[in-house]
Amino acid sequence: MAKLYVNPNVKKGHLNPELQGHFSEHLGRCIYEGLYVGENSDIPNVNGMRTDVVEALREIKVPVLRWPGGCFADEYHWKDGIGPKESRKKMINTHWGGVVEDNSFGTNEFMELCRQIGCKTYINGNVGSGTVQEMSEWVEYMTFSGVSPMADLRAKNGHAEPWKVDYFGVGNENWGCGGNMRAQYYGDLYRRYQTYVRNYDPKNPIKKIACGPNAGDFHWTDKVLETIFDHGGRTLDGLSLHYYTLPTGDWSKKGSATEFDAKDWYRTLNKTLYMKRLLEGHSAIMDKYDPEKQIGLIVDEWGTWYDVEPGTNPGFLYQQNTMRDALVAGINLNLFNKHCDRVKMANIAQMVNVLQSVILTDGARMVKTPTWHVFNMYKAHQDAELVESTIETTQVGLEDEYMVPNLTESVSLGTDGKLHMTLTNLSLEENADVEAVLMQTPVKAVKGTILRGAMNAHNTFDAPDTVQTTSFDDAKAEGCTIRFTVPACSVLHLEVEI
Ligand code: AHR
Repeated sequence: MAKLYVNPNVKKGHLNPELQGHFSEHLGRCIYEGLYVGENSDIPNVNGMRTDVVEALREIKVPVLRWPGGCFADEYHWKDGIGPKESRKKMINTHWGGVVEDNSFGTNEFMELCRQIGCKTYINGNVGSGTVQEMSEWVEYMTFSGVSPMADLRAKNGHAEPWKVDYFGVGNENWGCGGNMRAQYYGDLYRRYQTYVRNYDPKNPIKKIACGPNAGDFHWTDKVLETIFDHGGRTLDGLSLHYYTLPTGDWSKKGSATEFDAKDWYRTLNKTLYMKRLLEGHSAIMDKYDPEKQIGLIVDEWGTWYDVEPGTNPGFLYQQNTMRDALVAGINLNLFNKHCDRVKMANIAQMVNVLQSVILTDGARMVKTPTWHVFNMYKAHQDAELVESTIETTQVGLEDEYMVPNLTESVSLGTDGKLHMTLTNLSLEENADVEAVLMQTPVKAVKGTILRGAMNAHNTFDAPDTVQTTSFDDAKAEGCTIRFTVPACSVLHLEVEI
C-alpha cells in the first residue's frame, strides 16, 4: 500500500489557469479546418470558427491560446493577414507542408477565436525575419486606443476598440528556425525589440516572454538572461522552454502513435519525466538572476511527437492520440503544478490536428482525444492553491530507460473549497493501492473520475467514445484517510470534501 501524504494546511503556491494553456500554429489542419472554416462553410460556425470545436474547448476551460507559431511566427508578416479577405496575400507555407496560405485567418480572426473560447491571448512576434517597426506596429494595431495610424487601420478593419494582448513572445526558437542565433546575439535583439512592445494600457500591461532554451540547453538560459540583465532592470516576464516527448529520442524515426509495445510505452513515459529535470535545471539558473521568482518559466511547447499517420502530408504533423498520450499529459500537468513557484504557463502543442492534440477533425466530424479528457479532469486545478503532498512509489517497467516510478500526483485546494488530487499510474500491469493521509483533516466525502483503457486505446471518427472518463466510486474515506486503488494505465481525479 503506497502512502500519499497530503498536508492541506501547507500551501505551496498558486496554480495559474495558464498552466493548462494551448498552442495553435498555421501548420497542417490546426487553424484551417481545425479551428477556422470561414463564414461560408457548411460546417456550423460563428464568424468562421467551428461551433463544435469551440464548444469542446470551452468545456475544458482553455485559459490561454498562443498564436501564430511556432516556426511560422518568425516568417509571419501580420499585415498580410488583415483587411478585406479577397485582397489578402496568398503565399506558400514553406515551413509546413508547402500548401497555400491565403491569410484568411489573421489578427482579427485570432482575437475573435479567443473571444469565443473565452481565453487569454498570447501573440508570438517575428524577430527572425521581421523588423522592429513591424513588431511595434502590430502591438499598436492590437492595443492602442488613441489616434494613430495603426489604431485607425484597426478601426477601418471593423474593430474600433483595442484588444487585450495578455502575453507577447519576442521571437520563437531563435536558436533554430527563428534565425539560428547565438544566445548573446538573441539576448541583445530581445533587449532592442522588447523596447518597442509598448504598454499602451498601463492597467493591462503586456507580459513579455523571451525565447528560452531547447530542452536541456542550459547554456542558452544562462547567456540570454545574463545579456538581458546586463543593464539592470527587469524587461521580461517570462522565458520560454520547449520540450517534446519523442519515444525514441531519434528525430528520423520517432515511432507510430498507435502501434507500439510495452518497451515504447515505458521509454516514452521515461522521456516525459525528463521534464522534471528541465524544470528544476532551468529554474536553478533563473534563480541566479531572479531570486524573487518574478519571471515565469513558460513551457509554451510540450507534448508527444510521433511519425505522422500513414498517408498524410509529413509537413502536417498529424498524429493519433492514445492512452499513452493521456499519461504523458497527466504526468506533465502534475509536474507543472508541482513547480508552480516558477512555471507560470504551459501550452500543449498543439490544440487541434497537430502533434498531441486535444481534438481531431475530419471535415465536419470531430473527436475528443484521451488528452482532451485529461485536461477536462485537471481543470479543477485551475486557480487553485497547490498543497504539500508526497507519494511513495516503486519502479516499474523493464530495465534502464524502460523504467519509471509507478505513480505521479499533485494535490490542490480548489476555488470550490475541495481538495483535488490527480494521479497517474504508469504501470501497464500493476494496479496501485494507495492510502492518502490528510494531516489533521477529516474527510467528509470523496468522489472521482477515471480515464483508463488499453495502452494504445484511442478514439476514431467511427468510434469516438472508446476512451472516455467514467465515475470512480471506489475510494473509501475514514477519518483523515482515503483508501483507493489506481488501476494500471490510468489517470484519476479525486474530489475530496473536507
Ligand atoms: O510545434 C511544431 C514546431 O515545433 C514549432 O513550430 C516549433 O516551434 C517547434 O520546433
